Amino acid sequence: MPIDDATAAGLIEAARRVREKAWAPYSGFAVGAAVLAADGRVFVGCNVENASYGLSICAERNAVAAAVAAGARDLTAVAVVTDADPPAPPCGACRQVLAEFGNLTVVLAGTAGATTVTTVADLLPAPFTPDALGHNDEGRK
Ligand code: THU
Repeated sequence: MPIDDATAAGLIEAARRVREKAWAPYSGFAVGAAVLAADGRVFVGCNVENASYGLSICAERNAVAAAVAAGARDLTAVAVVTDADPPAPPCGACRQVLAEFGNLTVVLAGTAGATTVTTVADLLPAPFTPDALGHNDEGRK
């Protein structure tokens, strides 16, 4: 769902703030994400790396996990802030995880100030869905 400029700016600010908490000593690439739920709540996440590199978790997935843990499953938008220029989009795994909870508007921001707006469907046109499992909306057969 499209969001207005003020909402986008608020999400970017929340993502910018949580990016400062990123634990990224191995890559040096800090990421902040802020997810807007349909009920108006905002949930944030940063990337959390590990000395066992493969255990590292992306900012977007941590933000989605925070939303779901608070009972928010209908997600409207996500802002992702990195220091990349042009702004970096979510990785493939995060696109798939975002697609589980809606066709979110995706706002990408770099610390340089440039922003890009797209959608999960544009970033991931053919997600894996419960249909492929033959499951209903609750995830059951
Ligand atoms: N990272 C994210 O947090 N989100 C993405 O969508 C792409 C990559 C993190 C993972 C790792 O901690 C660092 O950025 C470098 O890949």
